[in-house]
Amino acid sequence: MSRSPDVLVIGGGIIGLVTAWRAAQRGLRVTVADPQPGRGAAQVAAGMLAAVTELHYGEQTLLALNLESARRYPAFVAEIEDAAGERVGYRACGTLAVALDSDDRAHLRELHALQRRSGLDSQWLTGRECRRLEPMLAPGVRGGLRVDGDHQVDPRRLAAALLKACERAGVELRRTWAERLVVVGDRAVGATLADGSELGADQVVLAGGSLSGRLAGVPDDVLPPVRPVKGQVLRLTVPRAYAPFLSRTVRAVVRGSHVYLVPREDGELVVGATSEELGWDTTVTAGGVYELLRDAHELVPGITELPLTETLAGLRPGSPDNAPLLGPTALPGLLLATGHHRNGVLLTPVTGDALSAALTDGELPHEARPFTPRRFSPVPQEQPA
Ligand code: GLY
Repeated sequence: MSRSPDVLVIGGGIIGLVTAWRAAQRGLRVTVADPQPGRGAAQVAAGMLAAVTELHYGEQTLLALNLESARRYPAFVAEIEDAAGERVGYRACGTLAVALDSDDRAHLRELHALQRRSGLDSQWLTGRECRRLEPMLAPGVRGGLRVDGDHQVDPRRLAAALLKACERAGVELRRTWAERLVVVGDRAVGATLADGSELGADQVVLAGGSLSGRLAGVPDDVLPPVRPVKGQVLRLTVPRAYAPFLSRTVRAVVRGSHVYLVPREDGELVVGATSEELGWDTTVTAGGVYELLRDAHELVPGITELPLTETLAGLRPGSPDNAPLLGPTALPGLLLATGHHRNGVLLTPVTGDALSAALTDGELPHEARPFTPRRFSPVPQEQPA
């Protein structure tokens, strides 16, 4: 084995990189294994920080973590921009969720009621009030929810900044796959890499996004129950002459499908996203692009005038309860930072803090404890009397 780091992070997406950066800041020697660090789902994601507008029934525990991470975002952005010397495109622009027909309006009313019961800040607007805020909205908009606390960041710029910050903090990047976890006795002690080397480490963090459940050598009882959930996303460009096209994130459920439009300061307009359970398929399909454009066009008819600059599909790391798996597993030496599903960008600050605390103190901070991977451990069967 080559010289051992304190921590080996398997996966160099934004979750692996923030874990590595924060761990290095705490004085740990860290190596990240990934053939293309800074890539992964963040290259596709829109970067909505949508704790309030993406609230779902039964996800109150996750809501608390999402809100905590959203609260940390401004300070996190200031720190990462300072560490990397580059901007990450954070915009405190708020979100408007709108409805086009009576079914969608009923859905939005339910969401509003749930938000209020959860103590969240959102305001019901008439269609006219929505259009006053966003004049490009279709005349048919029937009402909406103004959520001034749901902001956005540019995930590509965030990934690039985290990579730079890691390099500056002395994190070693091994640009190759980790192929197999090495377990000796009852402890994870490193990994075999695709370049044939074996890298020992005191602790291993598995942060492989949707691939996290596929690492060879991980015992079945600690293998994360993570699956790929495909999302197709479009990128358009707003020419200067059309600006400001939208001033905040606009989203809706159109006939049951979620669509969102995220306007960046630099004129990029991100339109997302499908949600498809199709395994490892990342094909951009005519149907996916058609549905996104059709729904986005119903919301904002002027969108068809804009250049379509990119179509991409990525894989969200879905977990059984839609919440992440964070911290130590039942296998000593192995920690998880995966399963962030729809909230990877939002949960980046709190994940870095939680994992670096777990790596140095041995346990998760209180806000992250409900997300221990042990919640999915097989429960010992009671023996019949
Ligand atoms: N959070 C947005 C998405 O997963 O599409």
